[in-house]
Amino acid sequence: MKRKKSCEELRSHRWLGATDLRSFGHRSRTLQMGFAREDYQGKPIIAILNTWSEVSHCHTHFRQRVEDVKRGVWQAGGFPVEIPVISLAEVLQKPTTMMYRNLLAMETEELLRSYPADGCVLMGGCDKTPPGLMMGAISMNLPSIFIPAGPMLRGNWRGRTLGSGSDVWKYWDELRTGNISEQDWREIEEGIARSPGTCMTMGTASTMTSITEVLGFCLPNAAAIPAVDSSHARMASLTGRRIVDMVWEDLKPSDILSENSFNNAIKVLMALGGSTNALIHVIALAGRAGIKIELERFEEIGSEAPYLVNMRPSGQYLMEDFYYAGGLAALLEGMRSLLDIDVPTCTGKTLGQNIAGAKIHNNNVIRTPDDPMQREGGLIVLRGNLAPDGAVIKSTAADPKLLKHSGRAMVFDDYNDMAERLEDADLDVDADSVLILRNSGPQGGPGMPEWGMLPIPKKLLIQGVRDMVRISDARMSGTSYGTCVLHVAPESWIGGPLALVQTGDIVELDVPGRKLTLKVTDQELERRRTAWKPKQRKFERGYGKLFTEHIRQANEGCDFDFLEGTAPTPEPEIH
Ligand code: FES
Repeated sequence: MKRKKSCEELRSHRWLGATDLRSFGHRSRTLQMGFAREDYQGKPIIAILNTWSEVSHCHTHFRQRVEDVKRGVWQAGGFPVEIPVISLAEVLQKPTTMMYRNLLAMETEELLRSYPADGCVLMGGCDKTPPGLMMGAISMNLPSIFIPAGPMLRGNWRGRTLGSGSDVWKYWDELRTGNISEQDWREIEEGIARSPGTCMTMGTASTMTSITEVLGFCLPNAAAIPAVDSSHARMASLTGRRIVDMVWEDLKPSDILSENSFNNAIKVLMALGGSTNALIHVIALAGRAGIKIELERFEEIGSEAPYLVNMRPSGQYLMEDFYYAGGLAALLEGMRSLLDIDVPTCTGKTLGQNIAGAKIHNNNVIRTPDDPMQREGGLIVLRGNLAPDGAVIKSTAADPKLLKHSGRAMVFDDYNDMAERLEDADLDVDADSVLILRNSGPQGGPGMPEWGMLPIPKKLLIQGVRDMVRISDARMSGTSYGTCVLHVAPESWIGGPLALVQTGDIVELDVPGRKLTLKVTDQELERRRTAWKPKQRKFERGYGKLFTEHIRQANEGCDFDFLEGTAPTPEPEIH
């Protein structure tokens, strides 16, 4: 280990190493907690930011896992301090965890700044926790390492494998059409989440933990370890050991992140067939590092990066299979020629050194660039008069027959309007209709809830229809599937063109041509734009007001405008 710092240069020394009145208080209160002077003096203080709580359904093992981290920190000569941070429990929190991602980022940054932390371990996994924690840590720029929560075990129903999210949507439709019973549905409910851990499909959690690893913030091959595997506990302890060395080496996010590491992340996103949510999060993460990523970058890289991992919702397998097939390290080794392997990582080694020798054990699960699932990535950026600032579709999870399609719009003004009318047997739709949901974007939702996989209207479900073109300014769960155009920007709430569509208009989706077009003349659109009236503000106070006044659009990463960039923020005065 290259030791670049002396004990006196530790950030925490300002709190605990001085001889003034205030440092008396800092030391006496540390002693008050039962720690002896020898426990902390001259040691790096490691803040462990833990997203555990009794509502964090995917992180129930973090109560134990944090002890594994602390063990590692103690062993390596550090002083661990666990600090709880906000719970973003994807399923339970309303209107959506996305509304609070930036709050977690702010909390992470400000806790690290205001306490005597020399380095940090970030414990997250459930969808918005990896980007939230990472955004804050990048902005604070202390040595940082991430512990991915790890996926839960495969779901099971009567011997059939169940995948998080994906099978919920599938069997819900079967229940609505009477193909399964209430008893079946109840058994599925009991069998789909069998252990601690995050969704085990290639949803947003597994996509973002993989991206965090590729960016260089996890120990090699950490992202895919199942939450309940004993390897996960060992990884946690090793992570605790490693962060202490990172502090002495002064290895910070700004030493690790670069244009090239983000390009790697986008290539891996494509290889994974990852979540559409990742586009928003990657743009926001890069923004915190002072790197501007436009949607076009995903388009350019996606056209050269193949889709390689055969996992639901785009493919067949689940995270447990991915781990047994070699995990992320094997995938990266297999696509080594496409990556910049010289980028630094938290291990102090390059990405190439971290993955050297990793093997693919099952070619059905992890493919290589010479035998891909698909020659180009499945996350496609669309533009046109309906989405001047872009929209996104996951083509690998869509019905190929619908990728070039035009049909009559059926417009739902908001989620409640859709929920009220969708089951109506007289709803004027057929299989060729294009369902449109508006007012579900960053401000309209608020927070872009995952409503983008609009349910198929019941009358069409009964006819056997299982996919339709659906367009919204919402997001969709990474576990969802279907021909869903998402993240339409600018959003309808602020007068984007989606606000101007009328039921009966013809909408054309052309994925090969990267186009999304409303077949209405410019003059007519202008007439409608002039007549459009904004809706009443939803929030007159509190966090909701701050959120709506400062949130960026989807193509800009949905960060708050005042949190982007790398402008210096003063360290707190210690007095
Ligand atoms: Fe937590 Fe899916 S609900 S990862």
